Amino acid sequence: MKNSKITLVGAGPGDEELLTIKGMNAIKTADAIFYDALVNIEILKHSKKDCKLIYVGKRRGVRRYSQDQINKMMVEAANENEQIVRLKGGDPFVFGRGTEELNYVESYGIKTDIIPGISSALAVPANQGIPLTKRGINESFFVITGTTSDGSVSSDLKFGAQSTSTLIILMGLKNLNLIMEEVILYRDENCPFAVIQSGTREEERIFLNTIINYKEIIKSIDYSKPGIIVIGDTVAEHPAFFEEEIQRVLHSVIEI
Ligand SMILES: C[S@@+](CC[C@H](N)C(=O)[O-])C[C@H]1O[C@@H](n2cnc3c(N)ncnc32)[C@H](O)[C@@H]1O
Repeated sequence: MKNSKITLVGAGPGDEELLTIKGMNAIKTADAIFYDALVNIEILKHSKKDCKLIYVGKRRGVRRYSQDQINKMMVEAANENEQIVRLKGGDPFVFGRGTEELNYVESYGIKTDIIPGISSALAVPANQGIPLTKRGINESFFVITGTTSDGSVSSDLKFGAQSTSTLIILMGLKNLNLIMEEVILYRDENCPFAVIQSGTREEERIFLNTIINYKEIIKSIDYSKPGIIVIGDTVAEHPAFFEEEIQRVLHSVIEI
């Protein structure tokens, strides 16, 4: 094996300018880059002309390569190339299977490095003006998976829902109804929430409502795009939240 190194790089949430300088330097010097679906491909334009670009993400929910195959492909690449980048959306250690991949390649004696990225969990709400914490409103935030390996919602959700926490739910769009039905057991029905799709990208969209009215937004969700659910009183800080709420109240008055 050559003197190879595999660097796990966080690509950030979508906007290519939210890649770190350190991440960019790794891209510029890589001999091969393995990248996922959530990576903004504009970032790849900064790679060397002869850099091998290998797409290993999911398309329309279908994986081209299994995790096992990806692990093996990276070990093979380490035999042929010196600098390999494994590029993942957001931060590789936030629901990114980064540790599994590092452990696997390290078991072959390959050197590794980690360059953290800006996670969508933090950047996507911030980009919309939604703070995750606000003094006097909440004391923590939870980042939870909305789809565990068996397809269910994480059982941690109920602990977050019982606290002052802002709940940030990744991979939760398909389970939105289950998530809301659980949260509504513990939170005021007028608790605000947001669904943000393709955050920090040009095609970004946001839907705002209160948890009691969550069904109103289901038909607007585009399930082919990544989306994050944010629940909690800090969502009311979004500049459009009260405006939309007033419109809804006026509307319901007219309908009556
Ligand atoms: C497998 S997780 C990976 C998370 C990633 N490691 C991170 O730190 O952002 C994928 C989920 O992240 C969320 N996500 C990632 N990028 C997003 C974006 N730009 N806008 C909205 N949600 C995003 C979605 O919930 C998506 O289903």
